[in-house]
Amino acid sequence: MNRNGGSVSSLRVDLGERGYDILVGEGLLEAAGRRMRPLLAQDRVIIVSDENVAPLYLGTLEKSLDGAGVEHASVILAPGEGTKDFDGLRELTDALLDARVERGTTLVALGGGVIGDIAGFAAAITLRGLDYVQVPTTLLAQVDSSVGGKTGINTAQGKNLIGAFHQPRLVLSDIATLDSLSRRELLAGYAEVVKHALISDAEFFDWLEDEGEGLIAGDRERRRHAVLTCMSIKASIVAEDEREAGRRALLNLGHTFGHALEAETGFGDRLLHGEAVAIGLGLAFELSARLGLCDPDDAGRVRRHLAAVGLPTGLGGLADPSWSAESLFAHMGHDKKARDGGLTFVLARGIGQAFITRDVDTGDVGALLEDALAALTDT
Ligand code: NAD
Ligand code: GLY
Repeated sequence: MNRNGGSVSSLRVDLGERGYDILVGEGLLEAAGRRMRPLLAQDRVIIVSDENVAPLYLGTLEKSLDGAGVEHASVILAPGEGTKDFDGLRELTDALLDARVERGTTLVALGGGVIGDIAGFAAAITLRGLDYVQVPTTLLAQVDSSVGGKTGINTAQGKNLIGAFHQPRLVLSDIATLDSLSRRELLAGYAEVVKHALISDAEFFDWLEDEGEGLIAGDRERRRHAVLTCMSIKASIVAEDEREAGRRALLNLGHTFGHALEAETGFGDRLLHGEAVAIGLGLAFELSARLGLCDPDDAGRVRRHLAAVGLPTGLGGLADPSWSAESLFAHMGHDKKARDGGLTFVLARGIGQAFITRDVDTGDVGALLEDALAALTDT
C-alpha cells in the first residue's frame, strides 16, 4: 500500500544504467513528488500537459511536488494528435527555453501518448538532452506509449517519422486517472491492450474475452491487471531490443496498416490511433489467415472481440471515394519499418504467436486492401 491508501505494483525496464521503474496503482499522482524526487538532478521540473488533462490533474501533481519541495512550472499544449507536429514542438521548446531550463531540469509528461511523445522528444533534443518522467493518463499511454523511449512527432509524410529513442527516468501510471477518460479514448487504448495479448499471450486474450467488458466499464482491479500485463510484455521486449533491431518490431502488430489509415485520414479526430490499430489488427490476422499462416477461426475471434467491445474492425464509415489500395499502400512505404524499399510486416501463426516477416507478396497486401475497400461498396 502507498501512503494514499492504494496499492502500487512495480516493474523494472532492465536497460542497465538507463533502466527505470514503472509504478502502477492508485494514489500515484498524489505521491508523484515523493516518488520522483530522488531521481531529480535539480529540485525543479517543468510539467508538460494538455488543455484537457491540466484542469483535471495538474493541481494534484503540483500539490504533490510542493509537498516534496520541488519547484515547478508548466507548459500546457492544445489537446489531440494535431499538436504532435513541428509547430507543437516549436511551441514547447520555445516555452522550455523561455523558462530557462537547465541540463538538470526534468520534464514531467502529464497526459496521453501525444503529450508523452512530444514531451519526450523535446526532452531528447533540448540542451542536447534532459531527463523526463512519464505520468500517463490514458489507457493507451499506460499500456504502451509511456514505456520504451520512443519519442517523436508526425509529419505530412507519416506518423512518428521525426523522433528519437530517449528513455524516461520513471513511469507513474495512476489507474484512477483513467476514470475521467471518454469511452472512445478508453476503447482506443484497449486496442493496444488486445495487441499485447495477440503478440505473445494467448491466455491474456482469453482473459480479455471474459473480463474486457468489466475493464472498459471501469473496474480498477481489472484495469490494473491489464496495465501490468501489457507493461511486463513490453518491458521484456524493450529490454531485449531497445532500438528495434529485431524483436521490438512485434510491438508494431497492426500498425503498418493502422499508420497508413491514420495518414490517409490526416492524423485527426476522425480516426484515433488506437482505432486505426484495431482495424490494423483485424487486417494483420486476415492477411495471416489468407496466407495460410494462421487458422481463419483465430482471425474471426480477433475481429469478434474487437467488435464486441465496440472497436472498428473495417473501413466502414471511414473510407471516402478517393481512397484506393494504391494510396494506402503508398503510405505503408513511408513506414519506418520499410527497409531497402521492402515492407516489414508483423503477422501471426495464431493468437499470441506474432512474428516478423519481410516475406510478404505486395500483391497479397494489395488484394486484401482492395477487398476491404470493395466490401464498402458491396453493402
Ligand atoms: P492523446 O494523448 O491525444 O489523449 C487522448 C485524449 O484524451 C486527448 O484529448 C487528451 O487530452 C485526453 N485525455 C488524456 N488523459 C485524460 C484523462 N485522464 N481524462 C480525460 N481526458 C484525458 O492520445 P493517446 O491515445 O493517449 O495517445 C496516442 C498517441 O500515442 C499517438 O500519437 C501515437 O502515435 C502515440 N503512441 C506512441 C507510442 C510510443 O511507443 N511512443 C506507442 C503507442 C502510441
Ligand atoms: N509502440 C511500439 C513500440 O514501442 O515499440
